[in-house]
Amino acid sequence: MPSQKTQVAIIGSGPSGLTLAQLLDGAGVESVVLERRSRDYVQGRVRAGVIEQGTVEILRRAGVAARLEREGLKHHGVEIAAGERRYRIDFAAQSASLTVYGQTELTKDLMEARDASGVPPIFEVDEVVLENIEGDRPRVRYLRHGEPHTLDCDFIAGCDGYHGVSRRSIPASVLTTHERVYPFGWLGVLADVPPVSPELVYASHERGFALCSMRSATRSRCYLQCDLDTDLAKWSDERFWDELASRLPAELAARVVRAPVLEKSVAPLRSFVAEPLRYGRLFLAGDAAHIVPPTGAKGLNLAVRDVDQLAAALAAHYAERRDELLDAYSAAALRRIWRAERFSAWLTSVLHCFPGRTSFDRGMQLAELDHLVSSAAARAAFVETYTGL
Ligand code: FAD
Ligand code: PHB
Repeated sequence: MPSQKTQVAIIGSGPSGLTLAQLLDGAGVESVVLERRSRDYVQGRVRAGVIEQGTVEILRRAGVAARLEREGLKHHGVEIAAGERRYRIDFAAQSASLTVYGQTELTKDLMEARDASGVPPIFEVDEVVLENIEGDRPRVRYLRHGEPHTLDCDFIAGCDGYHGVSRRSIPASVLTTHERVYPFGWLGVLADVPPVSPELVYASHERGFALCSMRSATRSRCYLQCDLDTDLAKWSDERFWDELASRLPAELAARVVRAPVLEKSVAPLRSFVAEPLRYGRLFLAGDAAHIVPPTGAKGLNLAVRDVDQLAAALAAHYAERRDELLDAYSAAALRRIWRAERFSAWLTSVLHCFPGRTSFDRGMQLAELDHLVSSAAARAAFVETYTGL
């Protein structure tokens, strides 16, 4: 049976697993990334788009920010619409900015960096099992093309997303989970049409929430709040654009360009936190540990911050034989994670149409938005959290 050894076994080659491998490489720590899917599948997944400045700095340290800094779109404000009303929230007063750059592109950059390091992820692994995580020498067993393999290591980083095996390897008696499942999802499309506005538009409307985002000056990424049982076959491109236009203020609706859609998918919305993030020699990071509804654009940013903290802790273990950072990882990361959960759940509740919403509930939503745009203190607090200052 083929067997291999490494210092850190990383499960999952999403943004958290790949960034962790890069950061560990920079600190002289060896790792091997195991991924269930194929390279093409991982690179083709259309997901996040908004990158905080702090995340850019971590990616720069990881040696993967050059193209992002060249091609990413720097944003200095965001728009919130409610019915016909439009408000712009300016980041400039706080010298804040965000970079719009697709997760697909970031994944490509990370994969190329892993290839250049000479240790690319091992794709298409199956039946991954984590063994002896309570002991000193954990082992990962997996199948590849039907053949059994083992990977011996000092630590395991569970970066395998919400449906991965890592979190499920922690005994139920140890793990506590906290969850809110929303009664709607997001129907997202990608299309080669110019964005309706140079900045992102979050629209709260009687018909439901809509978001106009982008990937470039000629490519839009748009979302509609939708039912959880949405049948994509019933959403022709025409229907999507009509519904989007109906949820935007007239001035923006007039700028919706109807073109064939390149990708269409539905994502359910969920808030989720697992704790603790450590069990023996297993550490959870990214979506394996927590999920935020995409409204706040925090998921990928949280994932990168988690692995930055974990990489520093592992580096201290190897370089200085100091384990305080490893011991502190779970509590320190959870504090940051809960703050992002708070913001994401709040923004979701203010912008979406919940089943059974009363006119009073709508009045409260509009008052929240009114407070946000008319109070300098509320705006400053929003910018601080949304941009991740
Ligand atoms: P993932 O990206 O889920 O990667 C986990 C990897 O592990 C996957 O490749 C998976 O195949 C692999 N895996 C799973 N099980 C196993 C196994 N048993 N063995 C081996 N490998 C396994 N975030 C933002 O910050 N900004 C945004 O604007 C934003 N927009 C979003 C829009 C949408 C529609 C969605 C769905 C998400 C959005 N997010 C956003 C969230 C962001 O995409 C995720 O938080 C991010 O992908 C998390 O990265 P990760 O590496 O932790 O997990
Ligand atoms: C995206 O561009 O995909 C995007 C932007 C902002 C969000 C979520 C997703 O809040």
